[in-house]
Amino acid sequence: METRMWSELLEPYKLAVDELLVKFSHVKDQYNSRGEYSPIESVLGRVKRISSILEKAQKKGIDLDDVEEKIEDIAGIRIICQFTDDIYTVRDMIKNRSDCFVVEEKDYVTNAKQSGYRSYHLIINYSVETEYGAKTVKVEVQIRTLAMDFWATIEHSLQYKYKGKLPVNVSQRLTNSASAILKLDEEMSAIRDEIVDAQNSFKIKARIVSEILNNIQNLYKVGNDREVAKIQDEFYFIYEEGDLDTLERFNRELDHIVEGYHTQSLPNFDTGSNY
Ligand code: GTP
Ligand code: MG
Repeated sequence: METRMWSELLEPYKLAVDELLVKFSHVKDQYNSRGEYSPIESVLGRVKRISSILEKAQKKGIDLDDVEEKIEDIAGIRIICQFTDDIYTVRDMIKNRSDCFVVEEKDYVTNAKQSGYRSYHLIINYSVETEYGAKTVKVEVQIRTLAMDFWATIEHSLQYKYKGKLPVNVSQRLTNSASAILKLDEEMSAIRDEIVDAQNSFKIKARIVSEILNNIQNLYKVGNDREVAKIQDEFYFIYEEGDLDTLERFNRELDHIVEGYHTQSLPNFDTGSNY
């Protein structure tokens, strides 16, 4: 196949990866904007390089006319989660989507591979609109925790370095670290609620602080500078000393003050404005 033909063949896969990256990142953003914990920590995607497709076809004795049917990871999406349970949440979410049709599933999370590799794999059919019309392509979706991803990345580099023939001591170390990774995921899951609470209160605090600063900025536009400077000092004090409830109360008070200025100085939106 000519290079030009290859790039045409890969175009819908590239589109599928781009679209899915946007869609899964959007899921994460939606959780975050609601101040909720997201089962998706991050999303990566790639289209297999032509050289890697050729190499895989040769290794597996796949005819070049059959690559689209038989090589299932030309398009690849990797979804990284914080906790093992999230993997199944994400799996179910994908199964419930009307734009992803799952055709194959491999649970290497519960049943790790001989190598120690753990990850949940889905092959999905995904349709894109190309300039030649609709086209359905296969996409391999790998779902794994941060810890599983760390292990897989290291193991992949070592396999590459040793061309698949790992020295016994390296191989033993990898097996040991696979057990450590499993233990790490289990330990993190055991204190999951505590971790999620901490992360959520961090996000909530960040949101309140940004609202307070926004309010203070608005007050500088309409209020008495000395008064506002006093409010700002008070905020710094509460920020250093106070808890989340105090910050929230302070923010509500600021809301009232800002509102007060608005009713004094701005036209009434209900009657006067041509908004
Ligand atoms: P492929 O020929 O790779 O498609 O094998 P397969 O069809 O049996 O698919 P499988 O689901 O086992 O693996 C697909 C992908 O998962 C690989 O391309 C890798 O990205 C990843 N993977 C599978 N096994 C391992 C492993 O032992 N180590 C690492 N680092 N990655 C793996
Ligand atoms: Mg495969």
